[in-house]
Amino acid sequence: MMSKPPTPADASRNVPRYTSYPTAPHFHARVDAPMQARWIADVPAGSTLSLYLHVPFCTQLCHYCGCNTKVAARQEPIERYAGLLMREIDLASAMAGSRRVTHIHWGGGTPSALTTARLQKVFEHIAAKFDLSGLRDHAMELDPRHVDRSLVATLSAIGVNRASLGVQDFTPRVQHAMGRIQPYDVVAQSITLLHSAGIDRLNLDLMYGLPTQTTDDVLHSAVLAASFNPSRIALFGYAHVPWFKKHQRLIDESTLPGLDARIEQARSAAETLCDLAYRPVGMDHFADPDDDLAIAAREGRLRRNFQGYTADDADVLLAFGPSAISRFAQGFVQNSSDLAGYGRSIAAGQLAGVRGIALNDEDRMRSAIIERLMCDLAVDLRPFAGEDGSRVRFASEFGRLEQMHENGLVDIDGDRVVVTEYGRPFARIVAAAFDSYLSASGARHSIAV
Ligand SMILES: C[S@@+](CC[C@H](N)C(=O)[O-])C[C@H]1O[C@@H](n2cnc3c(N)ncnc32)[C@H](O)[C@@H]1O
Ligand code: SF4
Repeated sequence: MMSKPPTPADASRNVPRYTSYPTAPHFHARVDAPMQARWIADVPAGSTLSLYLHVPFCTQLCHYCGCNTKVAARQEPIERYAGLLMREIDLASAMAGSRRVTHIHWGGGTPSALTTARLQKVFEHIAAKFDLSGLRDHAMELDPRHVDRSLVATLSAIGVNRASLGVQDFTPRVQHAMGRIQPYDVVAQSITLLHSAGIDRLNLDLMYGLPTQTTDDVLHSAVLAASFNPSRIALFGYAHVPWFKKHQRLIDESTLPGLDARIEQARSAAETLCDLAYRPVGMDHFADPDDDLAIAAREGRLRRNFQGYTADDADVLLAFGPSAISRFAQGFVQNSSDLAGYGRSIAAGQLAGVRGIALNDEDRMRSAIIERLMCDLAVDLRPFAGEDGSRVRFASEFGRLEQMHENGLVDIDGDRVVVTEYGRPFARIVAAAFDSYLSASGARHSIAV
């Protein structure tokens, strides 16, 4: 066990998760659908694509949920949505040409809310419009409560080879407090079904910092999750942002673990998962040593994307659906987050991008530094510093880093900044030292740990 320095005051800071840099609060309306169309058309021939398909529907809302989703009680809006997704795929593929796709990720919400027939239809549409001959990773986020025989048969038929299951916590008391009742047997049954269909690359999502949750609950859930032998486990800190996600007001704030408890939960679960032979990947993922993610981490190829950590190395990310964010060499574009607004644009034959950011050289450099810090928990600043050297080029950043060094979060060795083992859960704070937008903004983020 490592010694525990005092809890840094910084840990209570609200900082971004750095799934992109610049982060979404700094996107603006000058990047719009016409610019999105130009960026798609300008994707160089020979580039590889990663596709993200967002499905913003669930059968009920979990109190803690921070995703862009809504309850769909009827099939009619879902039917209409499947049509919109296919129309958007038509629009983008007409501009991009039949580019080679290496990764597909279905996220949400709950993608299976589309139902099996529509999942199949949308996938066939993608296959007709893009070149899937080099498709390596085909992943879908699944809710274990909605995994049945017919779904796994469809997933297998469309070539899904990785499934990500939302587990969060197995403890009945915590499930009640977070508004998601999902007994252990339901998770076990969904995994058995997936295995029977040959889908055995699994990711389980766990959370800490949930209402009434104790360190023992988190550890118990980590051990149970690991007993299914998933190739990856994600351990997300609950982001409580009720000013942004109004339904989180259903959570009794007086039952939320405090900062020290959150830190202890994150650390203890990480130690337990490592004792169970998982390798830590970035700040909140754990992977079997033979899994792509663990290998990418070892080889310094780990990337950060909107799902968290990935080994996806595609040149361009094309994202479909409301709130989905595409990444091009030129910058980021986000579709309208409002389902009605998204639907109006697509139905009118226009892309749905409403905000984004064009990257300048300074953004690209800071993005590279932040990505290495978030992925490798270390960065060598020399290649970014130019003739003046890193101490001059990053003088104000070093000022902040020295403070973090005193708090035990980082070691500084010449040009190299290394997040300490103690600092791992605080990697977002270290990365934030290089975020030149953060200090100027009034954007509210979730707590750093
Ligand atoms: C789209 S859901 C996964 C698929 C499916 N909808 C489910 O819940 O089973 C994505 C994951 O985001 C995480 N998540 C959701 N809300 C969160 C929040 N407020 N803070 C941190 N993680 C959150 C959960 O771990 C969840 O499994
Ligand atoms: S956590 Fe998953 S199932 Fe629950 S509301 Fe969010 S997206 Fe839907």
